[in-house]
Amino acid sequence: MDRLQWVIVVHGGAKTIAPDKAVAHRSGCARAVEAGAEILRRGGSALDAARRAVCVLEDDPTFNAGRGSVRNAAGEIEMDAAIMDGETLAIGAVAAVRHVANPIEAAAALLDTPPILLVGKGAERFARDAGLCPAGPEIVSVAAGDPGHDTVGCVALDRAGHVAAATSTGGLEGTLPGRVGDSPLPGCGFYADDAIGGVSLSGDGEAIGRTLLGARVMRAMEREPADEAVTVIFAPMERLAAEAGVIAIDATGQIGIAHNSDHFALACASSAFPEVVSAIHQNELREEKSNV
Ligand code: GLY
Repeated sequence: MDRLQWVIVVHGGAKTIAPDKAVAHRSGCARAVEAGAEILRRGGSALDAARRAVCVLEDDPTFNAGRGSVRNAAGEIEMDAAIMDGETLAIGAVAAVRHVANPIEAAAALLDTPPILLVGKGAERFARDAGLCPAGPEIVSVAAGDPGHDTVGCVALDRAGHVAAATSTGGLEGTLPGRVGDSPLPGCGFYADDAIGGVSLSGDGEAIGRTLLGARVMRAMEREPADEAVTVIFAPMERLAAEAGVIAIDATGQIGIAHNSDHFALACASSAFPEVVSAIHQNELREEKSNV
């Protein structure tokens, strides 16, 4: 793939998608990937594209992130998000944040600061100081009660060869307040390195964290293309009887997708094919992937 090419993939969570929600998942992912693709088409950065795509997913109540976040055992919404620049290895991540419409924007604002991760009230104060916490209205969780919800993410490669990864989640419904999953932890829910590629994951956060699942895919991508590397998620998830899904793009622009959940809402676009492709299972994308 020459360096004038770009690629972007988004996911809307590894989970079971009810038939009556399939259209919303496909169209939501397609809208998000198109928003990112528009930036890449114009020569914009992978970082901007990934952030924009995840913002669109956070604004869509179909997905468990931002506006669609589920509630914890205290009835509160606490969200995690992270973004990584594969050129500089800069990371911005926030965890257990409330009252922030787009946690991925708070994470992105952290990219230029020394800390890579802020949590709770410190993260909320940082977001407020960055102008990201409007006085109101608060986020309204319209997704509460849907136990199948899980996480959104994006990986993008721009024309300059830079990779970015972004992940955002409302966490687990009914979980302990203060619980943080894999999404804001590098090497677990996300990672990006121009020399290798990028990943964004979804699924059982504790299992992904225990197995450093994102790091395993990155390590595999050092020696094999993305579509082969992503298959390393299956054995550790089987060992822990857990569910996960991963999207990946390697440094050559090849896409990898794998999940052991019933469904995995997806969309991708590339300079190599004009139309956005969306799906709710990896098998639907097989043919298109081979054309990237
Ligand atoms: N995968 C998202 C979470 O477990 O919080």
